[in-house]
Amino acid sequence: GLPPRVEIYEVGPRDGLQNEDAIVPVEVKAEFVARLAAAGLRTIETTSYVHPKWVPQLADASELLAAVDRVPGVRYPVLVPNERGLDRALADGVTDIAIFGSATETFARRNLNRTVDESIAMFAPVVARARAEGLTVRAYVSMACGDPWEGDVPIDQVVSVSRRLMDLGCSQLSIGDTIGVGTPGQVTALIEAHTAAGIDAGSLAVHFHDTYGQALANTLAALRAGVTTVDASTGGIGGCPYAESATGNLATEDLVWMLDGLGVETGADLPALVATSRWMAARLGRPSPSRVVQALSPK
Ligand code: HMG
Ligand code: MG
Repeated sequence: GLPPRVEIYEVGPRDGLQNEDAIVPVEVKAEFVARLAAAGLRTIETTSYVHPKWVPQLADASELLAAVDRVPGVRYPVLVPNERGLDRALADGVTDIAIFGSATETFARRNLNRTVDESIAMFAPVVARARAEGLTVRAYVSMACGDPWEGDVPIDQVVSVSRRLMDLGCSQLSIGDTIGVGTPGQVTALIEAHTAAGIDAGSLAVHFHDTYGQALANTLAALRAGVTTVDASTGGIGGCPYAESATGNLATEDLVWMLDGLGVETGADLPALVATSRWMAARLGRPSPSRVVQALSPK
């Protein structure tokens, strides 16, 4: 069966924009976030407190947080890799953070300049301090369905990193198909393996990139396996600058179209999302890759 309601975890302002070369003005980012909240999204991952040289597009994290009118009932999580990032986030009044681990050694090295063990050691004090400050902490596990350098990633290897991240004290785990190579049977097996390892489907989220057009099929498989939180990016923008062959995220509009059709509640206003994507596409200088945005746009 399917859940009656799905929580959309919007990642457009963060995962969507982090790969854009041309710096998007902070006012445009703030308006993007405001439009997403106005379209009914309740969790909007806003930016990252990473090293500004690693992700120049998000170097304006503090300015953006100051520019966003935080709507009551809406959460604005941010990525935080280390204690320096946590200090910056706390100074800006952030209440929700996400750490981001890797299932593979190659991506841990390229994305965090650490081994898997070293990155978990880096996250441990972040999670402990964040929790002591009353913040919510999500963890990502990247390269869960395959890695551009290492190829297939054994499910046990993914689950082992997930378990270690959750054991730090995180409340939600987002399973990331960073490069979009996964297929539905693999997703079902991944979710079942996490459940078997004691990570309840209710504390899982799925994070799909649509590189091979599998994101919606994978999402449906995850929902049937008990997942109720789905990451998506309005307009389907995005990708990870440190992951070869990573393209856009599952588009929020594509997700909402499917869930509306299935009678699964999301609280999202599809026309408002489409209008937001078209507005953003004009700012980015290219059309949204989302099929739903294209279908609902005047010819
Ligand atoms: P490092 O070079 O090893 O950093 O980078 P370090 O710890 O050696 O510190 C070096 C200097 O950087 C120090 O300054 C620190 O203070 C400073 P110095 O003492 O030399 O003057 N520094 C910082 N400054 C500001 N903010 C910080 C920060 N940290 C250190 N947070 C580091 C290690 C983790 C910082 C770096 O690798 C990094 O920033 N990586 C982020 C990469 C990233 O954002 N990738 C994209 C997100 S992941 C993703 O997209 C996947 C996901 O979507 C899920 C999926 O699809 O699978 C989440
Ligand atoms: Mg991603």
